[in-house]
Amino acid sequence: MATASTPQPAARALRSRRQALAAIAAVPMTAIATRALAAPGSQRSIIQTTGRNSSARQDYGAAIRPEQLDANSALGLAIRRLDLLVPEYHGQWDAVEWRRGDPWFGNYDAIVQFAEIFGQRVRGHSLLWEQMTPAWARADLAANRSWAPVRQHFQNLLGRYRNRIEEWVVVNEMIDTEDGADGLRRNTFQRAFGNGYVATALRMARGIDPHARLMINDFSLCHDNPVDERRRQRLLALVEQLKARDVPLDMVGIQGHLELAKGALPMARLRRFLRDLAATGVTIAFTEVDVLEDDRRLPLARRDARVADMVASVLDLAADPAVTSVTFWGLRDGDSWLQERAPATLAALQRRPIDPASLNRGLPFDCNMQPKPLQRTILASLPQSRFARMA
Ligand code: XIL
Repeated sequence: MATASTPQPAARALRSRRQALAAIAAVPMTAIATRALAAPGSQRSIIQTTGRNSSARQDYGAAIRPEQLDANSALGLAIRRLDLLVPEYHGQWDAVEWRRGDPWFGNYDAIVQFAEIFGQRVRGHSLLWEQMTPAWARADLAANRSWAPVRQHFQNLLGRYRNRIEEWVVVNEMIDTEDGADGLRRNTFQRAFGNGYVATALRMARGIDPHARLMINDFSLCHDNPVDERRRQRLLALVEQLKARDVPLDMVGIQGHLELAKGALPMARLRRFLRDLAATGVTIAFTEVDVLEDDRRLPLARRDARVADMVASVLDLAADPAVTSVTFWGLRDGDSWLQERAPATLAALQRRPIDPASLNRGLPFDCNMQPKPLQRTILASLPQSRFARMA
């Protein structure tokens, strides 16, 4: 997990690019669409009546990967029940246009097509994020300080998916109260254009897709410590400033990568934070919820209860009328990016069969797709979600 002051290591981006490329090779788009179409109960009439739930305020979403979209697998069936799909990394600039001028949309198309078949929403994630900006773009931006490559990238994605993807993270992870420039992370875009890049990027996105809901999204905003508190204040100030200047910002994403070691959430403080954000006119989403455990020696039931309890706090906060969705950073423990954090866990993932107790248990389903107490907590808290209504 990145702390507020430590940007995530570049090695992660390289690894995920390799993963992305491997996935591209492994999953032809047509195969996904065919499997999805052939899935039992996938008649459009059913989807259209029970599918998108426009009256519900709080959708249940998850980050997904194209290779998981086999509608006949247990995971694929669960994914079909979500209201909202977010590409875990295949939507990133580096995963789409790793060679300049040669974008490849196969993975993104597969996700969007799957969602259309099953009447689900997609959130574009994310247009600008330091960690998955292609090397060629970093070099170009540093050398020329020109918006041209960013504009082309926005046109590639926002243009292609206009009216199909209606919600976009335009800028991801821009706050840095510890080492930033006036609280904004010194990333490629900040260095090239100054802190005004956030506003310019949002305006540029609006120019290309006037109807999409545009978001900024950030981490380390939920816990009870001075860094998270400074980050909340800085994000709120940024949002207030953007709204005061009529910058097209519709939503704020709070990632919600939670850690049991950091203790109970400061609920009163967080409620006020949500209210203050909402007062600026934005809606809010919890965008990347998962829980890092701190003691895997405890009995399984106790471990799962502690995880579910921490997320119950987030779901409680999500009852705020400004919150439109709660998205988990994956559905199944075995796929969680949190497993990468501990070498012992990575080793456990290589064994067969995988012992579900040997993994971090921070997502709704275990590695065998057994629902955990967390999944029951989610269904009880999001009764309007399609998952709860189809249960
Ligand atoms: C992570 C993915 O889960 C990893 O698989 C990838 O290697 C790196 O990115 N904040 C974000 C997400 O906004 O995009 C990150 O996802 C997790 C942190």
